[in-house]
Amino acid sequence: METIPKEKVEALLRGNLRQGPGYSYVAPSLARYPHQWLWDSCFHAIVWCHLDVEMAKRELSTLLAKQRPGGMLPHMLFWERPGGLLGALDPLLRSQWKGDCSTITQPPVFPLAVERVFEVSGDRGWLRGVLPGVVSYLDWLDRERGEPDGLVSIFHPWEGLDDTPIWDHVLGLHRMRGPRMVRWFFRLLKLYRRVGYDPARIRELDRFVVRDVLFNTIYILGLEAAMRLCDGEGEEERAGVFRRRAERAREGLEGSCWDEEAGFYFDATSRGKVREWTAVGLMPLALPGLPRPRAEALVRHLQDPGEFGLPWPVPSAARSSPRFSKSTGVTSLFRGLSWVHINWFLARGLAENAPREVARSLASRTIEMVARGGFWEHYDPDTGAGSGASGFGWSTLAFDLQERPPGRRER
Ligand code: GLC
Repeated sequence: METIPKEKVEALLRGNLRQGPGYSYVAPSLARYPHQWLWDSCFHAIVWCHLDVEMAKRELSTLLAKQRPGGMLPHMLFWERPGGLLGALDPLLRSQWKGDCSTITQPPVFPLAVERVFEVSGDRGWLRGVLPGVVSYLDWLDRERGEPDGLVSIFHPWEGLDDTPIWDHVLGLHRMRGPRMVRWFFRLLKLYRRVGYDPARIRELDRFVVRDVLFNTIYILGLEAAMRLCDGEGEEERAGVFRRRAERAREGLEGSCWDEEAGFYFDATSRGKVREWTAVGLMPLALPGLPRPRAEALVRHLQDPGEFGLPWPVPSAARSSPRFSKSTGVTSLFRGLSWVHINWFLARGLAENAPREVARSLASRTIEMVARGGFWEHYDPDTGAGSGASGFGWSTLAFDLQERPPGRRER
């Protein structure tokens, strides 16, 4: 099997590095995504741990530099004005947010990245410096986004997988693709701005209030990581709060999102479950200790060649969905193409929830796909060919799978 050379990973991360007064981060792709993105930076930090843990720390501290007073971590941070066409479009983009960062968030990978950096560095002083940021972010999610069933809601498509077919049902966006869809997304932000981003008003408007399975799976992993970190710091009370929140969110996922008949998890809104077949519904496999029959049902879907068991998995939508598409347009990101970050979560969790070979096989397909084609934004699930943005940062997570095979616990 081909492997990913460390030098290539290092060349990519250093090549995409943006540094200046008060910031240091890896741009997801110089060609297409020059700014800093929240979960991208968390993934980059996890990979930096193999190369230079100080860079990992800086990447995470740069995110904290723009944490909002209430604890929110923005999904996009603007540090520089890029050159070329992207630079020309920049004022338009920034005007949508009216500031130097965005007003929405992204899946909470942050506590996981902090935990990983601490595991590798053992730097307790650093941990003490960033832990309050982890705590206030999780408290913000609970306060502003918490739902009675213990889950949290996302308020905008860009807080999850931008254009997943799930949103077609939530938003009635059928056939609305391309610039029309993007305009609609910006209109949603404008509407939220008018109500001062007040979560109660946003819930009343109910344009896009979704208990997303992907976001919530990562939320639970984040709470459990924060719980361990607080415990290690002698903050038992805080750890207890996170433990209870994680337990409630796990119950919420089972109660509100699991569908017994389908043997699958679906996103939920005020109108009930959104029965769309995407990789989002497989994400609970990333949770250690998923109820055994549920894990088995998900693995059956994962391996079914008519659904997710394609030659270069995991397609972001099931082949059987009428909305499955391998289009590589900029508003067709998550409608069928395979992504390394999803595989990374699934392979790690599968090691805890399924026979060993299942996790191993997904990890090795992912590594091979990246070793052969390089670091692309997404990959064709039939041929493994890369597409979208080149030199894409978080596809280096395949290197993390290679160096830290799922199932081999270091702790
Ligand atoms: C795309 C992805 C988003 C990611 C960003 C930068 O918009 O959908 O999740 O953070 O690119 O890579």
